[in-house]
Amino acid sequence: MPCGSNCRLGAYHEAGLSSASRGGLLPAGGQEEIELSTILEIRATDPLMSAVYALRRDVFVVEQGVPEELEVDDDDRVATHLAALSDGRVIGTLRILLHQRSAKIGRMAVSATSRRKGIGRELMEFAAATASRCGAEEIILGAQLTACEFYKRLGYIEEGAVFNDAGIPHVMMRKKLQR
Ligand SMILES: CC(C)(COP(=O)(O)OP(=O)(O)OC[C@H]1O[C@@H](n2cnc3c(N)ncnc32)[C@H](O)[C@@H]1OP(=O)(O)O)[C@@H](O)C(=O)NCCC(=O)NCCS
Repeated sequence: MPCGSNCRLGAYHEAGLSSASRGGLLPAGGQEEIELSTILEIRATDPLMSAVYALRRDVFVVEQGVPEELEVDDDDRVATHLAALSDGRVIGTLRILLHQRSAKIGRMAVSATSRRKGIGRELMEFAAATASRCGAEEIILGAQLTACEFYKRLGYIEEGAVFNDAGIPHVMMRKKLQR
């Protein structure tokens, strides 16, 4: 769905999210707190995209062995991208594609040193709010099997058979959005 003019998806949108106000970034067990200052909603032409692509390359190409030529695709040009910043550095990202009343989330990545500290959850919740604001009624995504539990904790439900994407087993997952 090309987003309507009254929809801010694709606009340069900033949410100031201090860890104190969000209250959830100090994990039990006393791990170091991450100061996630901002999640930005950006388009492919934004200068910050080079840092987004660099993070995706580190995670998907270097860490997971996804072929480099598959990592960036045509959907990146039309997607809305979220960038989670800490100390001016991109530590997390995902992209949102709107199709009719469905939003598809993909390229969900948190830097290896920032995982299990709530960044992925923050990004997913931000993405759901963005998609809902743009009229989406549900979110679908192709989850790597190793990430299924992460999505399940956010209310996503598996459907269909396991399939291979870029050499990695995936399953589709879906979540209805509250309106
Ligand atoms: C999957 C990923 C995005 C999760 O991000 P994260 O910032 O570590 O996740 P969070 O800290 O917000 O975790 C939220 C919850 O999910 C749990 N969780 C996170 N990753 C998990 C995993 N791989 N398996 C099981 N549970 C997981 C957390 O423990 C936390 O649980 P809680 O509800 O009890 O607090 C991150 O590990 C990553 O980037 N992995 C490499 C790329 C990847 O696999 N992307 C997904 C492609 S489909």
